[in-house]
Amino acid sequence: MLDEKKEVILEVRNVTRSFLSSKKRKLIANNDVNLKLYKGETLGIVGESGCGKSTLAKMLIQLDKPTSGKILFHGQNIADLKGEKLRQNRKKIQMVFQNSTESFQPKMKIKQIVCEPLLNYGLLSKKQIDEKAKELLNMVELQEDFINRYPFQLSGGQRQRIGIARALALQPEVLICDEATSALDVSVQKSIVQLLIRLQKEQNIAVAFICHDVALVRNISHRVVVMYLGNVMEIVSGENLGKGYMHPYTKALMESVFSVDMDFTNPIESIDSELPSPINVPRGCPFSNRCNMCMDICKRSKPQLYEIENGHKIACHLFHREN
Ligand SMILES: Nc1ncnc2c1ncn2[C@@H]1O[C@H](COP(=O)(O)OP(=O)(O)O)[C@@H](O)[C@H]1O
Ligand code: SF4
Ligand SMILES: [Mg+2]
Repeated sequence: MLDEKKEVILEVRNVTRSFLSSKKRKLIANNDVNLKLYKGETLGIVGESGCGKSTLAKMLIQLDKPTSGKILFHGQNIADLKGEKLRQNRKKIQMVFQNSTESFQPKMKIKQIVCEPLLNYGLLSKKQIDEKAKELLNMVELQEDFINRYPFQLSGGQRQRIGIARALALQPEVLICDEATSALDVSVQKSIVQLLIRLQKEQNIAVAFICHDVALVRNISHRVVVMYLGNVMEIVSGENLGKGYMHPYTKALMESVFSVDMDFTNPIESIDSELPSPINVPRGCPFSNRCNMCMDICKRSKPQLYEIENGHKIACHLFHREN
């Protein structure tokens, strides 16, 4: 298990992000989220579709701001940064998207795509592009002669390697992967995950690996954050996610659907009622209307995230009665 005393790089502190829905009702996509990302750690973030994973990712890479709360990078709140300070800080936290192709200019050559972040920050001259692009392609195990190709001449897995090369070009301290392997075939997915694990170890970067595939996340993460309707329900070590998880929601996730092809847009079979909307979260525990362990207190009072043992946190009245 990762040592809790390790250096905290990124901390999400009491972060809430709400939106106004089309009918002017408040939708809470992230509700008082608290978590830490340690140096050299892979932190998995799992939960059903719509539970707020991408909303959190966007705030971590400063594409969006919390409605309230702080995002601390080395202790400094980056949620309020503006202008040049924001631009400079963005270098240090990079992201690999689910579909990298959408963020590539189709008319740009691969060498321009992977070197673009360095050019934008004035860290590379035009003369150095070929050499740097080859180095970056080597890093992600692609042939050097790909530098003169265009994105459409590459397979999905190869394009995702380009997305990783580009994200790591600036040598960030944090890499956010939001469903970075979800659109790929299982065999290709495996090779991209292996690449990410190797790079994470070699470069000692902190990785937030956001994915709906619990089995995959468990295998590669030091710790896993389980989210439900914008709330953190449990934080457990990756090795314990196989057996040491305790929250009724995590149990439902782990025990009902357990294959690499899980589709979280489908209801979980062992949970009877439908997933409520983030506009209409039950009072008390957000999971109370689907939980077969629900008690009276669960409908009245929202359980807080509570550390039950070293690094293992859980938000459930079964383990922590507050009144
Ligand atoms: N810009 C937005 N405006 C309104 N609602 C949004 C916006 N972004 C996300 N949401 C809503 O917030 C909730 C969480 O979405 P998201 O973070 O994308 O979930 P996930 O990535 O876990 O599937 C969803 O109900 C989604 O519809
Ligand atoms: S707090 Fe109550 S309703 Fe919520 S998960 Fe725990 S037992 Fe179930
Ligand atoms: Mg998402």
